[in-house]
Amino acid sequence: MTALSVSTSSAASLRVDAVVVGVAKGDKGLVPAPGAETVAEAFDGRLAEILDTLGVSGAEGEAVKLPAPAGLKAGFVLVVGLGDAPADGDFGAETLRRAAGVAARTLAGSRKAALALPTATPADVEAVALGGLLGAYAFNAYRANGNGKAPVAELTVLAPRKGQKEAKAAAERATVLAEEMNRTRDLVNTPSNDLNPKSFAAAVQTAGKEHGLKVEVLDEKALAKGSFGGILGVGQGSANPPRLVKVAYTHPKARASLAFVGKGITYDSGGISLKPAGHNETMKCDMSGAAAVFAAVVAASRLGLEVNVTGWLALAENMPSGTATRPGDVLRMYGGKTVEVLNTDAEGRLVLADAIVRAGEEKPDAIVDVATLTGAMMLALGNRTFGIMANEDGFRDRIFDATQRAGEQAWPMPLPAELRKGMDSSVADIANMGERMGGGLVAGLFLKEFVADGITWAHLDIAGPAFHEGQPFGYTPKGGTGSAVRTLVQLAEDAAAGELL
Ligand code: BES
Ligand code: MN
Ligand code: ZN
Repeated sequence: MTALSVSTSSAASLRVDAVVVGVAKGDKGLVPAPGAETVAEAFDGRLAEILDTLGVSGAEGEAVKLPAPAGLKAGFVLVVGLGDAPADGDFGAETLRRAAGVAARTLAGSRKAALALPTATPADVEAVALGGLLGAYAFNAYRANGNGKAPVAELTVLAPRKGQKEAKAAAERATVLAEEMNRTRDLVNTPSNDLNPKSFAAAVQTAGKEHGLKVEVLDEKALAKGSFGGILGVGQGSANPPRLVKVAYTHPKARASLAFVGKGITYDSGGISLKPAGHNETMKCDMSGAAAVFAAVVAASRLGLEVNVTGWLALAENMPSGTATRPGDVLRMYGGKTVEVLNTDAEGRLVLADAIVRAGEEKPDAIVDVATLTGAMMLALGNRTFGIMANEDGFRDRIFDATQRAGEQAWPMPLPAELRKGMDSSVADIANMGERMGGGLVAGLFLKEFVADGITWAHLDIAGPAFHEGQPFGYTPKGGTGSAVRTLVQLAEDAAAGELL
């Protein structure tokens, strides 16, 4: 993991491989962004002119290396585009995160770099630090030694002398968020032949010890004893048996308690309703919800938030075999409701239902589940936006507000009551499939059936943004993204501040 520090030194005096500055598109051409002053001076005030000659436009995503002029101790200057210069001088957190992310990605293979980007406020410092640490992420665990560029080893965020304490705190929060998002990315990127319910649970136990969390693991025997029919039914076709993991963080001054429930299908083949070729290559990502929940609980602990947060990870591998659940089978879920499994590929809602009922028994103030649940949500919202559904509109709207402050793309979705009857079953209390149209909302309505009366609940369908198949952009690499981690941490912070419930 890349090391991060904050410094008030001048960009000219730092012995680094690279110093990073921003450039924006102004009314009358390119303008070096705040933070770039010293570097611009070292170019005798001709930085904008030089960049213009080189055809640099200042667009977001642009990164150009220049040899360092005399007067800088750095090896080279890396200029990153910030897009249009804002009239009020505030670039906004996402622009800064993305620019720092582009810089860090470009710097893979370098050792030390200074980020001389706009850092007028602690929020700016946090954005630059977070974008830098997220952009520096690389997943090289499965490459032979030496193959794959190592991420930049050290990043120094340059900040003004005024407000140093706040800048340090902001960088620390960014470090926790980045490390926990990167933990999520590692878990999501780890192939299913190494990450199965058992090894996932072991990883939670290890981290639990390190961060003072209480971890309880139900193995297949304990699940059978407890009648967790949903998790067992999904897992029974696999040689890798399922697990339900509870990971709890408590604070003595907590006045609110949150339960986060994560879908943890370590591989989704579809089961007997097998997915066709072209649909299962990325299905190691189907535990992204559980990974986000796990990381968020660790983050809550590392940040010392004054709130109780319990994570419930519903872990199973969905495979076809002679022991697998068949379409038409009826499962008796935890809590006693029965479900007719019409399609074994609608497995996420089955493991989540058990975990939601179990989480509800502890009477948290709210339950938020996170899942790569439906292809339909991707059709609705695309690859970068997750859907938010809830059993209270006010709660859904506060979660949407939290996503915006956390810097994640999300959108509120409805749970139209008329879609419920499509899941009526002729043999069981409910079927695991309904109308095709609005499939993401149908899945949400299924989950809602398992939320105990009086409990506030929301569902985040992250099927789109959890796994990035395109080229890297900003601070987002290929593969696991860490989707929903920042939102869950924001919710925990909001709950601690008495602003969520
Ligand atoms: N894990 C998938 C959803 C998914 C698809 C996530 C693509 C990420 C990328 C889920 O288990 C699934 O298979 N859902 C089905 C439900 C259907 C059978 C009712 C779907 O969306 O097609
Ligand atoms: Mn599936
Ligand atoms: Zn799935």
